[in-house]
Amino acid sequence: MNLDKGNVRKIQENESIPYNLLLLADETKEAIDKYINLSEIFVLEKNDEFIGIYVLQPIDEENVEIKNIAVDEKFQGQGIGTYLLKDAEKRAKKEGFKILTIGTADAGKKQLYLYQKVGFEIYGKKKNFCIDNYPEPIFENGIQCIDMVMLKKQL
Ligand code: ACO
Repeated sequence: MNLDKGNVRKIQENESIPYNLLLLADETKEAIDKYINLSEIFVLEKNDEFIGIYVLQPIDEENVEIKNIAVDEKFQGQGIGTYLLKDAEKRAKKEGFKILTIGTADAGKKQLYLYQKVGFEIYGKKKNFCIDNYPEPIFENGIQCIDMVMLKKQL
């Protein structure tokens, strides 16, 4: 399907937070609420519906992190995730940041593949992140998520 990916825009303060999309990338609303108010939310729309999202949280003057990225299940596998990662990179660079980081569960093989494919490199792990930050064990691809793998890209 040839999807016109169009423009990504920032969500305004008077708009409601699209938890439905954010919950595709994070297990619980509680986990999302730890970062969402310290972040900016960007969405991709199609026919007045949000089909893609990413969340940027500045860490300090040089570093900014993608805390959440998700594509509506009906639209996955069509290049939108790649498009959103490139959009986040362009935006972070324009805003003067030097390094873009992203973290994903160690068992998230599709995500790890995608992030490395667009140029992120693994630089470390947040040990036991998935165990310490969620009430229930998380499984992906039949493997329990233990650590958060951290990747970064120089802008
Ligand atoms: N299994 C394995 N690989 C796949 C699959 C699949 N089901 N679907 C797509 N891919 C591959 C594609 O083939 C593509 O690689 P290629 O270019 O070599 O063919 C690559 O993954 C990227 O595909 P896109 O179409 O650009 O990605 P998509 O639009 O599906 O978005 C995303 C990727 C955001 C991970 C999406 O699948 C999603 O929303 N998943 C659920 C939420 C999630 O896990 N988010 C990330 C959590 S980590 C965080 O938020 C920081």
